[in-house]
Amino acid sequence: MPTRSTVILGTGSYAPERILSNEDLAHMVDTSDEWIRTRTGIRERRIAAPDEAPSDMGVRAAQRALDDAGVRPAEIDLLIVATVTPDMPMPACACIIQHKLGVPTTAACFDLNAACSGFVYSLDTACAMLTSGRYRKALVIGVEKLSAVLDWQDRTTCVLFGDGAGATVIGLSDEPNVGLIGTRLGTSGAEANLLYISHGGTRSPATTESIAARDHCIRMKGKEIFKLAVRAMDETARDILEQHGVRADQISLVIPHQANLRIIEAISQYLELPMERFFVNVDRYGNTSAASIPIALDEARRSGRIKAGDLTLLVAFGAGLTYGSALIRW
Ligand code: ACO
Repeated sequence: MPTRSTVILGTGSYAPERILSNEDLAHMVDTSDEWIRTRTGIRERRIAAPDEAPSDMGVRAAQRALDDAGVRPAEIDLLIVATVTPDMPMPACACIIQHKLGVPTTAACFDLNAACSGFVYSLDTACAMLTSGRYRKALVIGVEKLSAVLDWQDRTTCVLFGDGAGATVIGLSDEPNVGLIGTRLGTSGAEANLLYISHGGTRSPATTESIAARDHCIRMKGKEIFKLAVRAMDETARDILEQHGVRADQISLVIPHQANLRIIEAISQYLELPMERFFVNVDRYGNTSAASIPIALDEARRSGRIKAGDLTLLVAFGAGLTYGSALIRW
């Protein structure tokens, strides 16, 4: 029996109301709008309300994706939430979202932690489970409340990240050569020390001292990450194009992880594809980790940047280090 295609039936996204501008940050730490804009391309980011949990944001994005797809929560039998900032360490954010959305109790629901590559990893996982024939409709959500794990006194990290959620509904199709054509995933755990949260896990549980030292916050070696991000994203993009016999100029739109405009510009140069073919919204949201690609994907679709027959390339890079790419025909 031929393998059925996995197709994106709908997308949705949600950004919290509160906008934190670069000017606002300049009142909090020793930085400036000029420094942040020229080094990163970020102008502002969204910050979730104190009582707004990742599951709340995930539900809002998921409802929009379900509406877009014309699919009821009752039809979902697989729910994957890509996040490094779940509501709590246990249970999974996916379980909380399942209950809030009204997804059936017979659905498989779990979180996936691959940091900023989490959405591409989750997409691949969902599509593999769907093509196994044992699941019919998947909801894949990327959501982060990074504002809760930022050290607001550390200017080298707090200016870079933001909160938000994006979601996709995925189903099966008998039409050949549409939907998710392929993925490439990779990991380099040797560089786990470049981007991490050291405390609050089981190796170093939170203590009064660790909280005072803000060791439950993100720490990053930005310069090293920058170089590795460009190299890994370029390589994974080239690999997937080669694997599927696609030339870079056949890609209508690249949706890269939104970490830094300069990283995106470097990939544009390496792939010899003009910046007009890259979707960019890092200026409005900063780096939302696992939420970044699904938010961008939703905005790209809703603004008419993706049309039937188009080839879209997703390319991601994040803590782990993890990286991955996905090729989608619409
Ligand atoms: N405001 C003002 N000055 C700052 C700030 C700030 N917010 N942050 C750092 N500086 C200073 C530094 O202290 C340094 O000063 P010094 O020269 O006196 O020591 C100077 O600016 C230059 O710092 P660099 O780190 O060299 O700046 P760089 O040009 O490398 O930009 C940045 C830093 C933006 C972090 C960049 O390295 C970067 O984007 N790296 C990748 C980060 C990333 O993408 N992380 C996430 C990927 S994975 C994921 O998404 C989870």
